[in-house]
Amino acid sequence: MNKTRKIGLVVVAAFTVCVVAVFAKFHKSETKQKNSIKIGVSIYESNDTFVDLMVDSMEEKAKKYELETGIKVNLDVSSAKESQRTQNEQIKRYISLNYDVICVNLVDRTNASTIIDAAMDKNIPIVFFNREPVAEDIFRWENIYYVGTDAKATAVLQGQILIDAYNKNPEMLDKNGDGKLQYVMLEGEMGHQDSIIRTEWSVQTLIDYGMPMEKIESAVANWQRNQGAALMEQWINTYGKEIEVVLCNNDDMALGVCDSLAKANIEDIAVVGIDATQAGVKAVEEGKLLGTVDCNAAKQGETIFDIAAGIWADGSVPNNVKLENERYFRAPLIKVTK
Ligand code: GAL
Ligand code: CA
Repeated sequence: MNKTRKIGLVVVAAFTVCVVAVFAKFHKSETKQKNSIKIGVSIYESNDTFVDLMVDSMEEKAKKYELETGIKVNLDVSSAKESQRTQNEQIKRYISLNYDVICVNLVDRTNASTIIDAAMDKNIPIVFFNREPVAEDIFRWENIYYVGTDAKATAVLQGQILIDAYNKNPEMLDKNGDGKLQYVMLEGEMGHQDSIIRTEWSVQTLIDYGMPMEKIESAVANWQRNQGAALMEQWINTYGKEIEVVLCNNDDMALGVCDSLAKANIEDIAVVGIDATQAGVKAVEEGKLLGTVDCNAAKQGETIFDIAAGIWADGSVPNNVKLENERYFRAPLIKVTK
């Protein structure tokens, strides 16, 4: 063998050793990484019944997944305390700590771009939930998903609960017999898609059915039971039994209304909510709420987890998760009445 050939062989051999070593190292870190998944969750605030239900369900699903796969799940949940700036910081922290997926319940749904930029930069998928970013944000990148409800469909079902009740017993709703429903409306939150669309479409559904509606008052109670109760107390004092129907964008506010009605000893005003929280369903069973719409918080929470774990494991959403427009999961809905 001549000298150049010998050197050539040594070089080839050395190169092969290097390639194998690098590959082995890469492979090792790859398998190590795949033994545990880190999911960072940020919610808009910590005092929201429905969002808490979704988080509980994510946590349960994570435990099940650990048992079934042996893969360790770190699910970290932080509350943004209603500050978009705080939320942006929380997400940046997750990203700097190499979280695998981040799940975001936006404080300000029109303000997703800082989070999206930061996640795209480090190639970390995002699952938004419950507070829906605009479509332009969702479609900025293929690793962005949304889990929530179809806001209009929830409102249409709420309207139908009242239509069904009216058809069964018109006097129960239209107590003054003027052929119209005098109503007050409790809205969730300014700028929230569920609030805007539910406020419009619950009433519109009744109008489209041919039920004339007369608005007495409406106000924002931030999804909260105590704020709903305070507003209803004022309205009872001002309008008393002129009010025939109370439409609420969610169950907690509807329960607040029930609290004030009970305090004033009023039993014949129809109240409807949306969510089907435990307390909401109980109030329906007890006849305090005429009805609510089940938005399936548990299914939504599970699906957020399934999407996160799926894209982490092999870059794709599991087949059992049926997406709209490849990016949106909308929970199935059911009317809940006695
Ligand atoms: C709505 C839900 C409300 C509240 C809100 C928070 O979908 O009906 O109860 O949780 O989301 O964003
Ligand atoms: Ca009437």
